Amino acid sequence: MRTSQRLKKVPPYLFVEISRRIAEKRARGIKVISFGIGDPDLATPENIVEKLRATSLDKPNHRYPETDGLPVFRQAVARWYQRRFGLSLDPDKEVLPLIGAKEGIGHAALCFIDPGDIALVPDPGYPVYSVGTWFAGGECHWLPLTEENGWLPDLDAIPADVARKAKVLWINYPNNPTGAIAGPEFFKKAVAFGKKHDIAVLHDACYTEVTYDGYRPQSFLQTPGAMDVGMEFHSLSKSYNMTGWRIGMAVGNADMIRALMTVKSNLDSGVPQAIQYMAIEAMATPDKVIDARNAVYQKRRDRVVKALQNMGLDAEAPKASLYIWTRVPEGYTSAEFTKLLLDERDVVVTPGTGYGKHGEGYVRLSLTISEEDLNIGLERLASLKVPSKAK
Ligand SMILES: Cc1ncc(COP(=O)(O)O)c(C=O)c1O
Repeated sequence: MRTSQRLKKVPPYLFVEISRRIAEKRARGIKVISFGIGDPDLATPENIVEKLRATSLDKPNHRYPETDGLPVFRQAVARWYQRRFGLSLDPDKEVLPLIGAKEGIGHAALCFIDPGDIALVPDPGYPVYSVGTWFAGGECHWLPLTEENGWLPDLDAIPADVARKAKVLWINYPNNPTGAIAGPEFFKKAVAFGKKHDIAVLHDACYTEVTYDGYRPQSFLQTPGAMDVGMEFHSLSKSYNMTGWRIGMAVGNADMIRALMTVKSNLDSGVPQAIQYMAIEAMATPDKVIDARNAVYQKRRDRVVKALQNMGLDAEAPKASLYIWTRVPEGYTSAEFTKLLLDERDVVVTPGTGYGKHGEGYVRLSLTISEEDLNIGLERLASLKVPSKAK
């Protein structure tokens, strides 16, 4: 059997060694505490699950869904956008359901990228932007995100010949893995850049509803001109604790939405209708429910940040996202510090290099951890004396 060249483009799974060591420890009965994956531990609200129970009994929902989804789903998305961002979307032309944002992001590459084309991809960043590009036969031009730039890409630093060849610019705020946020000024620059170079600006907005200290992120599509050049990806996964149900949506420029619909209708058969009804119910959730959920994460955030600061790390509290992104102690690489925490304290964090080479020197801790595990994890971290490696 000969598998395709494109599979060889997928970088080796960085966590192979970590996963092996975790499995080995667990087999020995050791309780490993994981700050690794960003998968909400809090349950999907009961009224949303109840919607599935009820709608799963309706026979029409047992059949193939349409790729463009139920009209009532698209209308609910348009209502949610109006309520949340003050934007009027055409539910028939500017909204498309996704089998989770990951699916839409991966398939979006097939809409824009031909072999040899370039996608502008943040580093560090969510890996699907690059893998999707490679699967479509394209190349990534990496946009370094650095602490000095507030984890925003420097669009002026992109060489002219790269900008000419690029078809797509990926952005993601609130950001995974850095927890950074972007303001209207950056979004304006991204729109201008997209227009100047005829580049699709694709904004991954999966964390707009996971926020702290009263912060309310904007939609990229609120930026004047964004609907001409852009599409935005949302996920119900993090917004409403629904990772297991697999639903999200793409919204934005009608031609782009049509392109994504063409790709999807040829490769998948859409989101099960009962799940779409769950999403409709979710999007009607009163703000106070989301605020209460965010208050739980915020408390965890403050405890984790304090614990890291007590270890001598310069951790800062993010305004949004599920992640604490912190510099490792001087003299350590991301992988060495990750290994130290696992070896010495049976605590798992994600090395920043899992998100790109500019993630070197950082680790990510996810706040999707139960209170019980959090207590144990923080106690273990508090009792760790990090051996000095500083020169
Ligand atoms: C930045 C970002 N985009 C997209 C996704 C995928 O979301 P979904 O569960 O909707 O596929 C994630 C999940 O972790 C993410 O962190």
